[in-house]
Amino acid sequence: MTTTANPNKALWEKGDFTRVAESMRNSGESVVARLGITPGTRVLDLGCGDGTTALPEARLGADVLGVDIASNLVAAGNRRAEAEGLTNCRFQEGDASHLDELADDTFDLVVSIFGAMFAPRPHDVTRELVRVTRPGGRIVLGNWIPGDPTLVAQILKISSAYSPPPPEGFISPMTWGVEENVIERFGEAGVSADRISFARETYRFEYPAAPTELLAVFREYYGPTMNAFAAAEANGRTDDLQKELADLFTTQNTSPSAEITSIPARFLQVTVNV
Ligand SMILES: C[S@@+](CC[C@H](N)C(=O)[O-])C[C@H]1O[C@@H](n2cnc3c(N)ncnc32)[C@H](O)[C@@H]1O
Repeated sequence: MTTTANPNKALWEKGDFTRVAESMRNSGESVVARLGITPGTRVLDLGCGDGTTALPEARLGADVLGVDIASNLVAAGNRRAEAEGLTNCRFQEGDASHLDELADDTFDLVVSIFGAMFAPRPHDVTRELVRVTRPGGRIVLGNWIPGDPTLVAQILKISSAYSPPPPEGFISPMTWGVEENVIERFGEAGVSADRISFARETYRFEYPAAPTELLAVFREYYGPTMNAFAAAEANGRTDDLQKELADLFTTQNTSPSAEITSIPARFLQVTVNV
């Protein structure tokens, strides 16, 4: 087994996020459809995973570069683009905190849906986002909202209650879901508040089986949930965690059938005019 010194990378290479991403495709397409992409738009999709939003961007004719810290997700994205014959979409490894391989003022649009929020050192991330976006270009972020009662914020909240405390100096990714933090971070990167707008939008997790089956996918393949179960197991609390999450997934399911899953999750959409 390979080991890595970068815990951020290790977390996302753990398991197989593509299995979770399969439940997020429709909402990814809907977000992209609202971005005003036209043929030739130069798009950076940062923290792109296996291309839930990158592939729809490319289908609209954009010239898309997907960058992600996880090598397995980069490979999966390239496979998906190739299978669709999308020659205008490629994926490569990179870290949102230091995009050294990307030149200044390169992209018309930088998109990061639940991606850059997971990178360490948020001020480095805003500096890099602004640096690689051309003047007059746009940055669009999707960030989960701390304390929100819907699915993902609650999964992360419950999971953290079963996990050891984070290392000193760790800045929670959920801080990206607070408008004041976003304004402060972009302010430090030279972007004034009047160029930033916010909207609350909803993603939907859709799965062709019962909500507890979708939970099983999270338990087996989603790094943060896998870590929470490992910590719970070490403390003899696996059943408690399973029950809390099963209640969450089941009560939040809005599908009329108990054998089909459709769970909404609210997020903060940030648009920055650079
Ligand atoms: C919740 S997933 C979202 C993936 C994708 N944007 C989507 O909508 O399916 C978070 C993604 O951020 C990536 N990520 C985490 N830290 C990163 C970093 N420092 N730089 C680049 N990508 C990162 C992970 O590897 C993972 O693919």
